[in-house]
Amino acid sequence: MNKPLLGVNIDHIATLRQARGISYPDPVLGALLCEQAGADGITLHLREDRRHIQDADVYRLKSVMKTRMNLEMAVTDEMLAIACDVKPEWVCFVPEKRQELTTEGGLDVVKSAKKIASFIQEMHKIGTQVSLFIDTDFAQIDQSIAIGADAIEIHTGVYAQLWLKNKQQAITGEVIRIQKAVAYAKQQNPRLLVNAGHGLTRDNVALIAQIGGIHELNIGHAIIADSVFMGLENAVKSMRQAFG
Ligand code: PXP
Repeated sequence: MNKPLLGVNIDHIATLRQARGISYPDPVLGALLCEQAGADGITLHLREDRRHIQDADVYRLKSVMKTRMNLEMAVTDEMLAIACDVKPEWVCFVPEKRQELTTEGGLDVVKSAKKIASFIQEMHKIGTQVSLFIDTDFAQIDQSIAIGADAIEIHTGVYAQLWLKNKQQAITGEVIRIQKAVAYAKQQNPRLLVNAGHGLTRDNVALIAQIGGIHELNIGHAIIADSVFMGLENAVKSMRQAFG
């Protein structure tokens, strides 16, 4: 069985920088170190409130990175204009609420199908592929396929929360739900890429990494947290080793 690729989310290097409002640590330098350590792609989330990643980071990173940029963003006209200008390899549309600590749930593709479909078309015009961050819900998977998404990213936040609370039975149930969602998506459209992410750590990643059919895992907070103690390159390598 192929192991998933590893996309590293560098947002929290920028969070640390923004805490002081100065120029370091530089998330672009961090992204390059992640690439050197073997990351398959770099994810960054340009939030509407610019709480971590700034517009200039996105442009700087695009000009120096060697792998693939996965630019996460809300489904807004402002973000669409930026994506059209930057032309990342991938855009991942996510829901966004101002007060949330991090992305709390999947996108409601069923409810906003028309708008998201038109955003996907705009991205395809510039050659950017589109992923939709969704919950493990068959209706959301069906709608994502129907409107032409190239990939879905399954939200693993519920799984991660259960892990933190050490709810063993519920963890097994959630892994099965994710497994079924991945299998269903691949059955409906074998060309659709199925990614997953949110709240994954070296401790909890193996059960998700070993689900057949997952193309890539996007992991941020735990890798940046680990890097405080072991350095960024080791943190990236250790996360990959933890895939099993
Ligand atoms: N995937 C998506 C769509 C996200 O919004 C995030 C958080 O920004 C992640 C993955 C990474 O989550 P974490 O930082 O918890 O690893």
